[in-house]
Amino acid sequence: MSSNGHSEQVLVVQPSRRIEGEVRMPGDKSISHRAVIFGGLADGPSHITNFLPGEDCLCTLAAMQALGCSIEVIDRTTLLVHGVSGKLRPTFEAIDCGNSGTAMRLLAGVLAGQSFRSVLFGDRSLSGRPMKRIIDPLAKMGADIKGEGPKGCAPLQINGRPLKGIDYHSPIASAQLKTCLLLAGLFANGATSVTEPTQSRDHTERLFDHFHAPLAKEGRTLRILGGTTLHGNDLLVPGDFSSAAFWIVAAAAMPGAALTITQLGLNPTRTGLLSVLLRMGGQIRETVEANVAEPYGTLQVVGRQLKGTQIGGDEIANVIDELPILAVAAALAEGETVISNAEELRVKETDRIAAMAECLRAFGVPVEEKPDGMIIQGGAKLTGAQVKSFGDHRVAMSCAILALFAQGPTRIVDTGCIATSYPTFVKDLNELTDQTSVRLGSMTDSVMRMAKSGEGK
Ligand code: S3P
Repeated sequence: MSSNGHSEQVLVVQPSRRIEGEVRMPGDKSISHRAVIFGGLADGPSHITNFLPGEDCLCTLAAMQALGCSIEVIDRTTLLVHGVSGKLRPTFEAIDCGNSGTAMRLLAGVLAGQSFRSVLFGDRSLSGRPMKRIIDPLAKMGADIKGEGPKGCAPLQINGRPLKGIDYHSPIASAQLKTCLLLAGLFANGATSVTEPTQSRDHTERLFDHFHAPLAKEGRTLRILGGTTLHGNDLLVPGDFSSAAFWIVAAAAMPGAALTITQLGLNPTRTGLLSVLLRMGGQIRETVEANVAEPYGTLQVVGRQLKGTQIGGDEIANVIDELPILAVAAALAEGETVISNAEELRVKETDRIAAMAECLRAFGVPVEEKPDGMIIQGGAKLTGAQVKSFGDHRVAMSCAILALFAQGPTRIVDTGCIATSYPTFVKDLNELTDQTSVRLGSMTDSVMRMAKSGEGK
């Protein structure tokens, strides 16, 4: 078994001279979590389409069901959520958040102000991630919530009790923290405000609006009144930009490549990767076609030689989940790329600075690791490598993309984690590239055995 309870699947990726086609991404992970939570707390039904049936969001779905929300799973990506008007029921089982920091931090916000006890737990990776960042402000609201050790790690013991609103100035630009406190604020007495240092993704703000709940915004400060009602509403979850990022970089960096991604979420607080790639010389056309709750549309990417750049400052929050694949773009570009102010990467599903530095080096890329980022020398000759995912979906998929540009096959160990955010990644890899060795469908143990034995090459 892998560190995160997935069976240890090995993905073998062959080099590819082609990236082309038209593709649609599975639903956005951040929005899918929120759709189920907001819909579950609302009064009345919400019909959710293109929900992401990845393991992370399925944890949130199961949690909201356990808390008394009736959620009809019409098919894997279509849900009918019957909201309970904020009246959750106690669950006597501990709630499993799997690998998902979003599930744990958002649910903690919801549960802190209930009239019952709850326990939130997760896998080994999630149990090592800092929850103090939510515990401290929730405690200021009067919550009784305890984690383990100095980082306040999971399992979280929440003794639900009445909360009072606070004005909180967050030291980090974190959408999870912001959302946790605003959700807790729904159940608090008075107003709760959150001010963030720079703009983090604004899906929560958009969903409050979509669910017809007034959320005041002034500069970087958001304010919610306790007792605010969410009203059920239908929602189409657009394709996940962070999943598309793997193909956007692959196509942008491969001269001759041509890729179209449709119905893709193009929320400007998520698409910082495009600005970085444009600076690197990328050729990308973005067309927003609709703006219902969230903007979405079509992205066209044409491949060419990229050049190095600097990534840092206020831009980091916008590209936080794309930094592993941007490190791959840097390796494929000519010249040096410097990533700085990205210390948050060290507390993601794994330490993504250390993990990406190790993986890039295995392919032959010179990398200097810094406390808050890395310096990558692009343009080195790449050789297929044996790498491990560190149990992190984005590290696994970033390595798969770099492998397309290497000489010889690459073996990526422990890729079951990909199912947390992008269960159909391998299918898309087969369809968009020259792969012959990667099997379609779910990566089962037999595929692992096949990969290990080299069968199917
Ligand atoms: C997310 C916010 C980000 C991001 C994560 C999803 C969200 O985390 O990395 O994948 O849905 O709110 P932080 O809030 O910790 O930056």
